[in-house]
Amino acid sequence: NLTDKIKISFKTENDTVTLAGSEGDSLLDIVNNNNYQIDGYGACDGTVACSTCHVVLDQATFDAVNKGITEEEKDLLDMASDVEATSRLGCQVYVTPAVDGATVVVPAPVDLRDL
Ligand code: FES
Repeated sequence: NLTDKIKISFKTENDTVTLAGSEGDSLLDIVNNNNYQIDGYGACDGTVACSTCHVVLDQATFDAVNKGITEEEKDLLDMASDVEATSRLGCQVYVTPAVDGATVVVPAPVDLRDL
């Protein structure tokens, strides 16, 4: 797909995979659009009602996408495990060419007990 120009690597507990997306896709969209399975990831389909889409970004990526983080997102991140200063909800991070080539860490295990 020629419009899929932005490559993001997702590092899970067992694997690192590089997936392509388009500007404006969320990280969750990129995972879903590529039919890539991460156990339990994105349980609420991006409605900011879970924290299973938690990702830890590198600082440069975090700074590039850290616009308009909502109180809802912050509240959910407070409940996620392994949260770091550069944590985000993957369904709320919209990619731009500035983050092409980034690697995002998907903390594992995703905690399903709170769903
Ligand atoms: Fe549930 Fe992102 S998929 S908050």
